[in-house]
Amino acid sequence: MVERVEIGDAVLFCGDCRDVLPTLTGVDAVVSDPPYGIAFRHSGKGAAVAGAKSVRRHAVSIAGDAEPFDPTPFIEYPAVVLFGANHFAHRLPPSGGWLVWDKRDGMASNSFSDCEMAWTKGVGNAARLFRYLWNGVCQAGEKGNKRHHPTQKPIALMQWCISQLPMNASVILDPYMGSGTTGVAAVRCGRRFIGCEIDRRYFDIACSRIEATYQQADLFMSPPASRTACPGLFDAPAIQTAAE
Ligand SMILES: C[S@@+](CC[C@H](N)C(=O)[O-])C[C@H]1O[C@@H](n2cnc3c(N)ncnc32)[C@H](O)[C@@H]1O
Repeated sequence: MVERVEIGDAVLFCGDCRDVLPTLTGVDAVVSDPPYGIAFRHSGKGAAVAGAKSVRRHAVSIAGDAEPFDPTPFIEYPAVVLFGANHFAHRLPPSGGWLVWDKRDGMASNSFSDCEMAWTKGVGNAARLFRYLWNGVCQAGEKGNKRHHPTQKPIALMQWCISQLPMNASVILDPYMGSGTTGVAAVRCGRRFIGCEIDRRYFDIACSRIEATYQQADLFMSPPASRTACPGLFDAPAIQTAAE
């Protein structure tokens, strides 16, 4: 059962994005930070290994991270930004560009990566760099905000990614939205948003963060941020689905 919630112009699905994707039409861009399959690759056995040993990167396991990520369903969209793509580059077309997030911004390296990379389609072939410090308590912004997800991205980073998209990319899909950072960024950028999250805890957090974003008094946007639960997948759609 996939649950659907509408908040302002955003439509959020709690469930497996592979069930939701075939029902969606009108998506202009996919901007996402999927599970990269890092726990799978680190299992060292060429196959997913169940249990804590297979998930070395995070104290908390992430759904889908113990199997290789397949970007195939997403590369057909007109515009795409896919984080972690260096981990599945062999499954991507050779064309496309790259966005690079320098998360040290001059600070010394540590055991974690200095940068993260996103493969792009439809945003030009030049590699672009975004410097934004994000290293434990050393953060360029969003200080004092609770961290909700083990791989939570900065809102500023996702706003920058959205700013790279063509101006006519008005409906943005994040099929792996986690705590909803892409959704918050999309709302701030005045774009419509569709998000999917399989883990109920993160879905609820995403709903709250997106609702709070709509409610921020300094944002001049409509419609109001009231939350509507739509128990059926196809009930009262704000964004067109294939079933309509
Ligand atoms: C790397 S995290 C995204 C974190 C996000 N960028 C943020 O700032 O919070 C990927 C998310 O995809 C979710 N996920 C994994 N498989 C999924 C699936 N088949 N459908 C929907 N969500 C899925 C995981 O539960 C996880 O929260």
